[in-house]
Amino acid sequence: MEFPYAEPFKIKSVENIKRSTIAQRKQWIQEAHYNLFNLKSDQVFIDLLTDSGTGAMSDNQWAEIMKGDEAYAGSRSFELLKANVQRITGYKYLIPTHQGRAAENVLFSAMVNAGDVIPGNSHFDTTKGHIEFRKAKAIDCTIDEASDTSKFHPFKGNVDLNKLEKVFKTYPKEKIPMVIMTVTCNTAGGQPVSMKNIQETSELCRRYGIPLFFDGARFAENAYFIKKREDAYKHKTIKEIVREMFSYGDGMTMSAKKDGLVNMGGFIATNDVAIYNKATVFAILFEGFITYGGMSGRDMGALAIGLDEATEFDYLESRVEQVHYLGRKLMSADVPVQQPIGGHAIYLDANKFVPTIPREQYRAQALAVELYIVGGIRGVEIGTILADRNPETGENRYPDLELVRLAIPRRTYTNNHMDYVAAVIEHVYHTRKEAKTGYEIIYEAPVLRHFTVKLRKI
Ligand SMILES: Cc1ncc(COP(=O)(O)O)c(C=O)c1O
Repeated sequence: MEFPYAEPFKIKSVENIKRSTIAQRKQWIQEAHYNLFNLKSDQVFIDLLTDSGTGAMSDNQWAEIMKGDEAYAGSRSFELLKANVQRITGYKYLIPTHQGRAAENVLFSAMVNAGDVIPGNSHFDTTKGHIEFRKAKAIDCTIDEASDTSKFHPFKGNVDLNKLEKVFKTYPKEKIPMVIMTVTCNTAGGQPVSMKNIQETSELCRRYGIPLFFDGARFAENAYFIKKREDAYKHKTIKEIVREMFSYGDGMTMSAKKDGLVNMGGFIATNDVAIYNKATVFAILFEGFITYGGMSGRDMGALAIGLDEATEFDYLESRVEQVHYLGRKLMSADVPVQQPIGGHAIYLDANKFVPTIPREQYRAQALAVELYIVGGIRGVEIGTILADRNPETGENRYPDLELVRLAIPRRTYTNNHMDYVAAVIEHVYHTRKEAKTGYEIIYEAPVLRHFTVKLRKI
């Protein structure tokens, strides 16, 4: 007989969250100019804005915090982190940074020049931002299946090798400082990359003499999908799979706020000593000395333990299966969600959810606001507001997909919370299908407008 699933942890410390009424939330969101980033966390009941740095640490991580060594140079906490990064990733050289985008800043300062191109699979927005900031270009080589939300493909984060080879043939080698493989793809909905694809991409890169770097923010979740979906790996441990994944690359950048299971932190790890030496110069300039690089000793200690915990099957099963538990509930109620469900978030398809709200009135934002008013749930719009304006014409860019992302923090909410979220979404779906009006912008910043935009209800 198969018994129901139960999480492989119990709760030692709790944080109270505040309930509120619909009337209160209507007032708060109006005061926040209908921008969910402007809400105070106490005004939110279930916060699914992001899974980045919002998870719970374990008792062992907190214990390591007490043992943190704050020596400016050569601290024990750095040595512990280095040893764990070496054991888990196989990369010898480590540069800590204060978060993922700082790792990108340091690495790209060493490797990327104006006029370069950096191919990859759905680069994350900070990655793309740091590439474009250097007047270089990110070229997306993700397989076409990634943009069809209703089509099942087990590895929608895969690189299309033909697209990648075309880039290699079009640009001289000196203009391609690296290929970036993002595991899993946040931008494509938390979709994984198969080991076969990582291996083939690596072979192609080696044939053309181009370094392959991973954006490893969710590398452990990627390894979980490989174990579950790629037959040859079903008997391997997550740690074996992770070692093999990284063996195909030359290094990685990491936002430790995801699969490092910490609230703040990041790093660069590589086996290429020349790249490491070059990057250390920028690390000292932008982040701090090379044995702390923007992190305190205690935080490096917590990260060292977090990396170990995140690469255990039981943890990953509870994490990814919780996301899928919510996804299955919504799908069985016919709520339109992006499929297959990825590793860290559910994406509601606002084009199908509230099709009667004109796109010009930011239908995904309207849906996100409605979920907040009805249930105190905070998600985030991944649609026209995020896509911003065309810098040349000043016109809104309308992306194909209008999504609301509900990212699930790690080890933070129970499945009762997921049941609550599903019930609110189902209710909104059945009562708001006919909604006709959305919002108009009354203030926006010239770049990255979604963080500070102010809206008015139409
Ligand atoms: C795939 C990916 N890369 C890089 C980053 C940037 O990391 P950070 O937020 O730590 O700067 C993120 C953050 O969400 C991410 O998802």
